[in-house]
Amino acid sequence: MMRGRNIVVVGTQWGDEGKGKIVDLLTGNVAAVVRFQGGHNAGHTLVINGERTVLHLIPSGILHDNVECLIGNGVVVSPSAVLDEIAQLEARGVKVRERMTLSPACQLVLPYHIATDVAREKARGSGEIGTTRRGIGPAYEDKVARRGVRLGDLYHGHNFANKLAEVMNYHNFILEKYYNANTVDFQKTLDDTSRLAEEIEPMIGDIAPILHDLNVRGENILFEGAQGAMLDVDLGTYPFVTSSHTVAGATSVGSGFDPRRLDYVLGITKAYSTRVGSGPFPTELFDGVGKHLADKGHEFGSTTGRPRRCGWFDAAAVKRVVRTTGISGLCMTKLDVLDGLETVRVCTEYEGSNGKIAPARFDSEYYSELSPVYEDLPGWQESTAGAHDFADLPENAQSYIRRIEDSVDAPVAMISTGPDRHDTIVLKEIL
Ligand code: GDP
Ligand code: IMO
Ligand code: MG
Repeated sequence: MMRGRNIVVVGTQWGDEGKGKIVDLLTGNVAAVVRFQGGHNAGHTLVINGERTVLHLIPSGILHDNVECLIGNGVVVSPSAVLDEIAQLEARGVKVRERMTLSPACQLVLPYHIATDVAREKARGSGEIGTTRRGIGPAYEDKVARRGVRLGDLYHGHNFANKLAEVMNYHNFILEKYYNANTVDFQKTLDDTSRLAEEIEPMIGDIAPILHDLNVRGENILFEGAQGAMLDVDLGTYPFVTSSHTVAGATSVGSGFDPRRLDYVLGITKAYSTRVGSGPFPTELFDGVGKHLADKGHEFGSTTGRPRRCGWFDAAAVKRVVRTTGISGLCMTKLDVLDGLETVRVCTEYEGSNGKIAPARFDSEYYSELSPVYEDLPGWQESTAGAHDFADLPENAQSYIRRIEDSVDAPVAMISTGPDRHDTIVLKEIL
């Protein structure tokens, strides 16, 4: 039997590494693209011939005709967000509904999750996580607490109303009594959600058998991660993380696909570091270089528009991520943003507050005490924007990439030199 190849794309930093662009590019060679975790907190940007599309819940394969776009059980789905996104794509002539399937086991994100997310952040004050305020954390909490409402529940009328009443009683109690915040209206939530449910119904389907069948038919599948490994709820900079597992290990639990069939994990890594929201960030820059990265890299959140914090590449962190998520190869993105810098720095290890070399571990209290130990490399003045060949890159840019491969202990398989689908250098064909 000729099985297809299955590729996992994950972020290796704090998200926004350019996963969407690379998923879109690789989609040219696959039959299906699958989301397996996260929700509409994600913002994945695709640029095709200058036209920009930002996707939040819909897999980044949607702009290729005939590709199936699947939403696995590990994703939390806001019915209104998914329908808004479909409407925006349809307004531009992209056919969506006939190619989308959502697992009935997806947990719902409803207005009371947003109210709870916002109330929590407000109550934390200066200690806020800096969430996207999309209700993602509270939706995952409900799932693990086994009081969540799933997409499939929407089609069991009376039961749905009962389940919704139960979970909303809980949220409204917490909102009113604990946070002193406004409650969310039950009847309105029930009516609105039931209306949206009708529109979603034709797209509901069991994902696991679809994936299995595609695989045994010899078709390739691409699994699209959201966020990044440093935002993983266990392995990231807890508690300044998102509420799902963002590492490659989440692929099979979030989709029901056989983990033994995953062939290659592509870790997307920005040529520097960014972070949006609160939490430790040892290589963060507050100087002119930080501003250069923010301006040249247009570092504003794709979902919330917030400015992203910028800093040097943290090889000590990515090295640990390479091991915890299991990276076959890296795709280094936004190399062009470093063009024109005198010197480029790479953090190769950390020093603890006692002045001794300290191991990379991400739990926030420990991690925020670490200072980066840098290695300085000469920058390059030539433009790398739009380069298609490794040999065309300035020598110093080549050395920078080689040094990073060495220090994170993973090969670079691809390099992205601009936002457009085609601004890419392929060193290793993975499909
Ligand atoms: P994602 O969440 O990982 O999909 O990344 P985002 O879309 O949130 O952020 C990445 C941003 O960088 C987007 O605006 C992309 O268009 C842009 N981008 C991706 N790759 C490159 C690149 O190689 N060079 C430049 N200059 N921009 C890039
Ligand atoms: P993509 O897929 C960058 C961050 C938020 C916040 C923390 C928790 O585009 O890479 P949440 O709303 O998830 O409870 O917020 O996680 N965050 C992201 N940062 N890219 C993302 O997604 C993110 N999704 C969540 O800023 O710090
Ligand atoms: Mg993003």
